[in-house]
Amino acid sequence: MSFKVLVRPSGLQFFAEPTENILDAALRAGVGMPFGCKDGACGSCKARVLAGELEQGWHAAPALSHEEHLAGLALLCCAQPRSDLEIEVREVAGYGEFPARKMPCRITHLERVTPDVVVVTLQLPAAEHLRYRAGQFLEFTIGAGVRRCYSIATAPHVDEAISIHVRHMPGGVFTDALFGAAAKPIKERDILRLEGPLGTFFLRPDSERPIVLLASGTGFAPIKAIAETIFHLQLNHDDPGRTRPARSVALYWGARARRDLYMNGLPMRWAGEQPNFRYIPVLSDALEEDAWTGRTGFVHQAVMQDLPDLSQHEVYACGAPAMVEAARRDFVHLCGLPDDHFLADAFTSKADVVKD
Ligand SMILES: Cc1cc2nc3c(=O)[nH]c(=O)nc-3n(C[C@H](O)[C@H](O)[C@H](O)COP(=O)(O)OP(=O)(O)OC[C@H]3O[C@@H](n4cnc5c(N)ncnc54)[C@H](O)[C@@H]3O)c2cc1C
Ligand code: FES
Repeated sequence: MSFKVLVRPSGLQFFAEPTENILDAALRAGVGMPFGCKDGACGSCKARVLAGELEQGWHAAPALSHEEHLAGLALLCCAQPRSDLEIEVREVAGYGEFPARKMPCRITHLERVTPDVVVVTLQLPAAEHLRYRAGQFLEFTIGAGVRRCYSIATAPHVDEAISIHVRHMPGGVFTDALFGAAAKPIKERDILRLEGPLGTFFLRPDSERPIVLLASGTGFAPIKAIAETIFHLQLNHDDPGRTRPARSVALYWGARARRDLYMNGLPMRWAGEQPNFRYIPVLSDALEEDAWTGRTGFVHQAVMQDLPDLSQHEVYACGAPAMVEAARRDFVHLCGLPDDHFLADAFTSKADVVKD
C-alpha cells in the first residue's frame, strides 16, 4: 500500500511506498527537491512535516538536530512514510530536465595538481552526450555497493572532456586507489561506471541577485563550472538591447596553504577579464614559505567581514561539510540571507556517516 505525499507550497503530489525513502519516491515522480549526499549526512533534504507520520531513519546528528526533529523537521533521504503526508519543502524547478543516466567512462588523464589533489579527465562513450547543469555531480560505482560522488568541474556549454577534482582522504576506499595508496590502484585508461547528473546544487540563471561563490578545497570544482557558466551567459546577453546589468559575482576560495589553491591562476585571470567579478582567496594555515599577504582565517567569515548584509544576495557554497554548515548558519542568522538563497553541496564522506 502506498501513501500520498502532498508538497507545500507547490501543491505537487506523489506516492511513496512504506519501504522506500520519500526523496527517492519524489525524484522518481519528477518532483524536484533539494538533496546532496542521500546518506543522511549533509542536511540538504530537510523538510517540515505539516501532517501525517513518517519514520525517520538513521542520520548524522549535525544533519538534523534533536531540536529540529522535535520541531517537526525531517530528512527525506532517510525517512519512510507511515501514513499520507503533507510536507513543506522548496521545490527545485527544472530538476527533471536532464534525467540521470548510467554509463561507463574512461579515465583519459590524471593530473596531480598538488600532492593531495588530482584532476581526473573522463571520456564518455562516443554515442553519449551528458547534459547537466553547472554545479551538479556524478556518482561513480567502484565495487559492489561502493559509490562515491564527485562534482563536475567543466561548464556544460564547454565542448571538452568532463573533469573532476579529487582530494585524497587517506584511508578512503576510492581516493586511496586513485592516489596509488591501495593494493589495486586506479590508473589512466581504466573504465569506471558513473551515474549522473545528480543533485540540486546548480546555478539558478534567472535570478538577478548579486552572487557569492564560496568554496573550500576541491569545492572549487562545481564553483568553477558555475562561474564559467555565469560568464558565458553574461557574454551572450551582452548586446546593445540588453537592459539587465551583469550580475556581480564575488568568489571566496578557502584553503589551508597557498599550494592548496590548486588553480589560483584561473580565478586571477577571471578577475582581470570579467566585469563585476572579484576573487578573494583566503588561507587558514598559510606556511611561512607562502609569504602570504592576503586574507586569512575561515573563508565564510571573510565573506561576512566584506558583506555584513547578505539579504539581497544569493550564495553558492561547496566543500567541507563544516564550512558549509557554518556558512549557512551564520549567513542566515547573522547576515540576513534568506535561507532559500543559500545553495550548497557539502562534500560528506563515509567519515560523516559513521554510526554510533
Ligand atoms: C554531493 C557530493 C559531491 C562531492 N564532490 C566531491 C568533489 O568534487 N571532490 C572531492 O574531492 N570530493 C567530493 N565529495 C566527497 C567524495 O564523494 C568522497 O566522499 C571522498 O572523496 C572520499 O572518498 P573515499 O572513498 O576515498 O573515502 P571513504 O572510504 O568514504 O572514507 C572517507 C574517510 O573516512 C574514513 N572512514 C571510513 N570509514 C570510517 C569509519 N567507519 N569510521 C571512521 N572513519 C572512517 C576514511 O579513513 C577516510 O579518511 C563529494 C561528496 C558529495 C556527497
Ligand atoms: S541528501 Fe539527505 S542528508 Fe544529504
